[in-house]
Amino acid sequence: MISVSNVSMRYGAKVLFDEVSTGFSPGKRYGLTGPNGAGKSTFMKLLTGELDPQKGNVVRPKKLGVLSQDQFAFDAFNVIDTVIMGNKRLWAALEERNHLYDKAEMTDEDGMRLGELEGVVGEEDGYSAESDAAILLQGLDIADELHTRKMGELQGGQKVRVLLAQALFGNPPALLLDEPTNHLDLDSIHWLQEFLNRYQGILIVISHDRHFLNSVCTHIADIDYQTIITYTGSYDDMVIAKTQIRSQIESQNAQREKKISQLNEFIARFAAGTRSSQVQSRKKEVERLQVNDLARSNIARPFIKFEQKRPSGKYLLEVEGLTKSYEDDVTAVEPFTAGVMRGDKIGIIGRNGAGKTTLLNALLANSPTVPLSELRDTSGYTGDFVTGGKVVWGHEASVGYFAQDHKASIQKGMTVFEWLFQYDPASSNEEIRGLLGQMLFQKDDALKSTNVLSGGEAARLLFCKLMLQKPNVLIFDEPTNHLDLESINALNIALQKYQGTVLLVTHDHDLIDEVATRIWHVENHEVEDFKGTYEEYQAQVVA
Ligand SMILES: Nc1ncnc2c1ncn2[C@@H]1O[C@H](COP(=O)(O)OP(=O)(O)OP(=O)(O)O)[C@@H](O)[C@H]1O
Ligand SMILES: [Mg+2]
Repeated sequence: MISVSNVSMRYGAKVLFDEVSTGFSPGKRYGLTGPNGAGKSTFMKLLTGELDPQKGNVVRPKKLGVLSQDQFAFDAFNVIDTVIMGNKRLWAALEERNHLYDKAEMTDEDGMRLGELEGVVGEEDGYSAESDAAILLQGLDIADELHTRKMGELQGGQKVRVLLAQALFGNPPALLLDEPTNHLDLDSIHWLQEFLNRYQGILIVISHDRHFLNSVCTHIADIDYQTIITYTGSYDDMVIAKTQIRSQIESQNAQREKKISQLNEFIARFAAGTRSSQVQSRKKEVERLQVNDLARSNIARPFIKFEQKRPSGKYLLEVEGLTKSYEDDVTAVEPFTAGVMRGDKIGIIGRNGAGKTTLLNALLANSPTVPLSELRDTSGYTGDFVTGGKVVWGHEASVGYFAQDHKASIQKGMTVFEWLFQYDPASSNEEIRGLLGQMLFQKDDALKSTNVLSGGEAARLLFCKLMLQKPNVLIFDEPTNHLDLESINALNIALQKYQGTVLLVTHDHDLIDEVATRIWHVENHEVEDFKGTYEEYQAQVVA
């Protein structure tokens, strides 16, 4: 059992949740929901103990399996080590032990300490750690030859599997997963659903994916109105139940507002008169009613609109016999030839590991406007992005790029306003504020540090950059990861209306369906070019 009592959390003026008491029991599978920035990841960090609540307390089992939202955090470690790190006590003991063994000379004290550490390693099954980790990885379909690779070399879907193995390492009685379906293709999501449905402990999972929540969850803990309400049933059941609660809360709010305005009227009318004690008591009452802002629903829709500073030429991009292979002779892209015309909206689809990001990188490496550093940052890769063939961009092309590891594209240690402003120092304060407001960074939020952005907020900030730069080509690598439903809809509409050219990698079928006019299907590193919509493509595949 994990139990939470009277927990409150706020940042500045923003109350995430106030006086929350709730519990999570074994055998039940909880979805933790709420729009971007609601406080889901924060709440999960309170549950794991990574953060302490500002008020109240949390009681948790000694061991927890955790998958955090940042799936790029372990890029520098190798796969087996990453899994073993799931047992923090063991990992710390192993590290310290190796450090002591590395010393040229050992003191008596060191010797004593080594004895203690061996004790910890024994208690935590450290002697079988590597083989235990390997067995988990095999179960999760990570081939043996990948076990000694660096995490940074794996592609998105494989990383998630390794991080799941990390969470599961040591059979924890509770599993806490923050957006595990990001970067997964449909088949992998199905696999994860089945896997989680068999898990016997306490499962708490954060997701914006309705289908996924419906197929996994027995309960939904929803963050809204500055509290957390747990509903029995899956996501769709919650939505129905919530409309009732919402109208109740909203009518309470309306009553309170009405009461305040009546009191204010009385105060205004008699302020100068003889009934001063009554006026005073009413002023107090108004103060009391106003202490807390009304708890409003946190659901909001951003307004995305992509424009082009100037359109590109008609022939946008010429790809001729493009290939890409890695040193160890792994071919990532087989020879590919295609021409892209202004206004094409290309949906790039394919299973995890098929080579979609590699293809994008090969195209981007030659683009006139995206610096190589933006590619290197995100893949950790430092070799060439193209092995053979030609990629030629039309000279008027200006490319805006949204990378898969989107958070790495935002420097830390500045305010949201400063970060955006650097991309167009000629723009006015109002322009920047206006853009940020459109993307739901209101007032003080513009001065928030880039260090603390939630996953969805970081994505919204990158959209601001693209709206500011007004490129005539937009390249997105899985933009809907981390986004809530409202934002995905806004993105969908914006891409449909955009007059420029779009290259879009996504596993979101609705988005592909409604935006793409052309499909590139990447399979076994080969690209199939289909000039038509997703629906037409599927019809053709079936036929
Ligand atoms: N240390 C901090 N200082 C100020 N604000 C913070 C801090 N940490 C988090 N926040 C803010 O708290 C809010 C909740 O963040 P959190 O990451 O929990 O959201 P989330 O519900 O997980 O959102 P998403 O769906 O986008 O991942 C965000 O607005 C975030 O910017
Ligand atoms: Mg989050």
